[in-house]
Amino acid sequence: MTALLQMEGVRKTYATGAIEVEALRGVDLAIDEGDFVAIVGPSGSGKSTLMHIIGCLDVPTAGRYALGGEDVSHMSEAQLADVRNRRIGFVFQQFNLLTSMTAQRNVELPLMYAGISRADRAERAREALERVGLGDRVHHRPGELSGGQQQRVSVARALVTNPTVILADEPTGNLDSVSTRDVLALFHELHAAGRTIVLITHEAEVAAEAHRVVRIIDGLLTEDEPEQVAS
Ligand SMILES: Nc1ncnc2c1ncn2[C@@H]1O[C@H](COP(=O)(O)OP(=O)(O)O)[C@@H](O)[C@H]1O
Ligand SMILES: [Mg+2]
Repeated sequence: MTALLQMEGVRKTYATGAIEVEALRGVDLAIDEGDFVAIVGPSGSGKSTLMHIIGCLDVPTAGRYALGGEDVSHMSEAQLADVRNRRIGFVFQQFNLLTSMTAQRNVELPLMYAGISRADRAERAREALERVGLGDRVHHRPGELSGGQQQRVSVARALVTNPTVILADEPTGNLDSVSTRDVLALFHELHAAGRTIVLITHEAEVAAEAHRVVRIIDGLLTEDEPEQVAS
């Protein structure tokens, strides 16, 4: 049995001038299809580094990482970009929407990279926006939307390609409590529909929403809390 996402002995060292930082110091992690996992840890513990590797934005310095049975640890930039586009939907704390484009165009972007035709892109983007409750905001630009709505646009952008995994780094970090509930409810809905969700956060209340909690401290994972491990 291979997990959807499997890491063994993953290390990441950043070299900045004479100083080396070991951001990940031997991480073993297996996530199954359909899991809803929160990765929690304090600032500087290595969460974003781990997210970049999970999301194929970066490769480990040492160790092995396989996603959907494909070993991605030694892939080139172009190969990684292809895996990312096929398998990962990203949600970031800062939304990362293009401010000059409408919600629909923002959601269409990953489909453009995937070479989908204009008409199909428009239709799928509108469907994704309806899915996140923004069917009446498709022509709004980010500046004309609230923070919570902007994050819902970025969730629509994450799911429009039908990714294997939705990977969110501090997705509620810039939201008020109402919008936080809103976005978390959306993740629950996507999980119930069969998506695998990996949510990275430093907020305990947000982590409590997941079915499984993994803690990262100083570049190392600690055991999941047994009572929160999904059966
Ligand atoms: N690009 C980088 N170059 C050098 N050091 C980095 C880089 N990114 C992160 N680090 C260092 O690696 C450690 C983990 O950082 P990060 O993964 O961003 O943690 P978190 O997301 O939990 O706050 C920190 O000590 C940070 O300073
Ligand atoms: Mg971070």
